[in-house]
Amino acid sequence: MQDWPGLIEAYRAWLPVTSTTPVITLREGATPLIPVPAIEERIGKGVKVFVKYDGLNPTGSFKDRGMTMAISKAKEAGCEAVICASTGNTSAAAAAYARRGGMRAFVLIPDGYVAQGKLAQALVYGAEVLAIRGNFDRALDIVREAAEKYPVTLVNSVNPYRLQGQKTAAFEVVDALGDAPDWLCIPMGNAGNITAYWMGFQEYRQAGHSRTLPRMMGFQASGSAPLVNDTTVSDPDTIATAIRIGNPVNRAKAIAARQASNGAFLDVTDAEIIEAYKLLGGQEGIFCEPASAASVAGLLKRKDEVPAGATVVCVLTGNGLKDPDCAINNNDAAFHTDLNPDLATVAGVMGF
Ligand code: F0G
Repeated sequence: MQDWPGLIEAYRAWLPVTSTTPVITLREGATPLIPVPAIEERIGKGVKVFVKYDGLNPTGSFKDRGMTMAISKAKEAGCEAVICASTGNTSAAAAAYARRGGMRAFVLIPDGYVAQGKLAQALVYGAEVLAIRGNFDRALDIVREAAEKYPVTLVNSVNPYRLQGQKTAAFEVVDALGDAPDWLCIPMGNAGNITAYWMGFQEYRQAGHSRTLPRMMGFQASGSAPLVNDTTVSDPDTIATAIRIGNPVNRAKAIAARQASNGAFLDVTDAEIIEAYKLLGGQEGIFCEPASAASVAGLLKRKDEVPAGATVVCVLTGNGLKDPDCAINNNDAAFHTDLNPDLATVAGVMGF
């Protein structure tokens, strides 16, 4: 097996790097596109469904794609510290890549609304973690101002290198399928990833790597759906804390992607998100975080509109291990506790 060099080396010609750019990589990218037969069965009509399991990146989310680029370019520019606001995954990725590149990482998070695994990562990777009494949108305002005033580089998705790195996920989807899918289903928070995918699909098509472009189908949680409802949400709320965002910074670009691709935005309730989350875990053997399950929840909600025989890709943006509390509180598992330590008891539980 040939060793995967990480996405900057793999897609160097498509990225704004030169031979002198230091490449800070954890060999991110090359994540699997996995068929999901139980979901296909629910849709029927000969529709093929795959998940792009980006939770298998080195820090467990798609953010690594953007961060290898943002941090490499920051290093090239001589920067010594980076800063971001985050619902958890950006902070984990920023911390890992910044520290690997020998830089300080300051991360601002909404106190009490970051999943345990993500917080653990930022701490272990050596970030300086600032938990604020405010939500993600407020944290983003603060870090944008900080980056203007102080010698720190902003690595949220307003940093253009982030989207450049993230567009490689679209390349991988086309490389795996041999063409673009008919639908691309994706969760939206700050709407950077839908923007990046659309950029990637367009660039690959222009270069003749695909014949078609997908419809971009973006999904938000009902309690945090500023793009779906064309508004801002001052107090966003959802179990999917990763996408608990009320004022997406990439709003205009996401709307442009929807229009140009004849796509659509729709919201899914927390109950629908959890249903998809349990279906993926319990029947497909795929553990994603709740925000990621919004892509599958959205597809199931719109299943009547999927054309017969279509190919659909749902992006699973983050790993389920990130949010153990959600997993423990939302499953249909048979969990027997406090059992006597003997075979008769065990056999009794098994029904033998
Ligand atoms: N899924 C997961 C698991 C995420 O962490 C995020 C965003 C999204 C989807 C939405 O992506 O913002 O590009 O539309 N997480 C950011 C963070 C906000 O701080 O980790 P988007």
